[in-house]
Amino acid sequence: MDLFVDTLVTDATSAHSLSSVHMLTTGAEGVYIHDETKTSSVFLESTNFSDGVALDAHHHLVLLDDTLMVWDGTWLRESPLQALMPLPAESVVGHDSHLWLMGGGQLFHHTEGSLSAVSIDDRADVRMMVPSNDAQCAVMAPFLMVLDGFGGTVSLLDHRPELIATSMTFDSDGFLWLADGSSHLTRRAPNGDWGALEADEVVEAVYGNPSAPDIWLRTESATLHHRDGQFHTVEVPSGDWVGVDPLGRLLLLTTDGLQRVAVRRSVGVSGILAHAQLDEAVTLGFAPTGADSVSSLEVWVGTEALAVDSAMGTAELDPISLAPGNHLLRMAVDGPEGTTITDLPFTTGELPDATWDDDIDPIMQEHCSRCHGDAAAIPLHTADLWRLNIDRILTEVVSQDMPLGGPYLSDDELDLVRGWQAGGFQ
Ligand code: HEC
Repeated sequence: MDLFVDTLVTDATSAHSLSSVHMLTTGAEGVYIHDETKTSSVFLESTNFSDGVALDAHHHLVLLDDTLMVWDGTWLRESPLQALMPLPAESVVGHDSHLWLMGGGQLFHHTEGSLSAVSIDDRADVRMMVPSNDAQCAVMAPFLMVLDGFGGTVSLLDHRPELIATSMTFDSDGFLWLADGSSHLTRRAPNGDWGALEADEVVEAVYGNPSAPDIWLRTESATLHHRDGQFHTVEVPSGDWVGVDPLGRLLLLTTDGLQRVAVRRSVGVSGILAHAQLDEAVTLGFAPTGADSVSSLEVWVGTEALAVDSAMGTAELDPISLAPGNHLLRMAVDGPEGTTITDLPFTTGELPDATWDDDIDPIMQEHCSRCHGDAAAIPLHTADLWRLNIDRILTEVVSQDMPLGGPYLSDDELDLVRGWQAGGFQ
């Protein structure tokens, strides 16, 4: 398999991915934010960083020397969360609607403007945490617990007292992958089923990103990439594994600096995050994987082509010209290997208020229940099952892979499902 290897920053000593184009790095003077669409780095502060997350397309929460700060592209100021945290934060993961913070071995959850301490067990000592793209978080405290922060109160979804992960990650389908220092690779499905894969040798690390379907495995002598049910052995540069970005690309610190390895030529974009609600015009910036060998970049929303300023590599996206509802920003790049498409879903306008009882349950009854009932291999007959699998459900119904054989959901019905999700699954 041919890989794309890009060198992003040559003098980084540590790095952390914030978005598909933004990277937190440490260099000679301190902490920088690198923006790949501008191929430039902005100096933040002469400290160290320990973590960071993108809150939206323009705001990043970064943890600088135990202080939670917000960077808005111009100014760095203390986050309101800093005053709420009773202990110094050591790590922060998640996304705008569900943030998980760790400090002094304790876990905190932030949703809808309020922060609460999570008491999982009196003796719990949280050492590692990874978020899902939804409301879940897996923690080692010290053994594995899967938590669900839906509805504002955190509940224990699952636990495995005998399982001590050395590394773990969620993928974008909601699967939790764990390596435990043996040759087993353990995997938890979104419906709670556990499975195990046996590798030929010790699995040293499993890396992924809750926004991407890609999983990267490091064993004693090889690197494997997993996507769509297939494992492939790949050759990656030698270096320290840093993480995986939202487009599923592996980040490494090598003697050449911060490098990124990708199996496909996806396109990073600034100005918008996936699934965002777009209320005003934005300038989009594009950063294709392997930019040196790109021969063309075209961008559409639906069937409308956006004018890409080829000198700047930017385009204007104005929601005024779009019908309210769901849209796909589609970026197509050509290279010697052919055309690669990267899709980014977003919404404009007001979505309808929808509730399970009045709107979604009837859709489920009419379109899904005969194949996804109680006894089905993939049961989807309750509000909880829909909520936990909402990304997969939306992917399937938007692409018209489901309901199998049709008739498919109307645009109004799709908006109701989106509105139910946007309104917090009432
Ligand atoms: C006629 C039967 C049938 C109907 C109706 C149906 N499904 Fe399915 N669905 C299947 C089968 C069979 C599979 C598993 C095989 C596959 O993925 O094609 C499946 C798989 C799925 C999956 C998992 C796909 C994956 O690979 O992750 C989702 C999600 C799903 N269905 C959602 C829905 C929703 C939502 C509806 C109603 C809007 C629906 N289905 C209606 C038969 C059906």
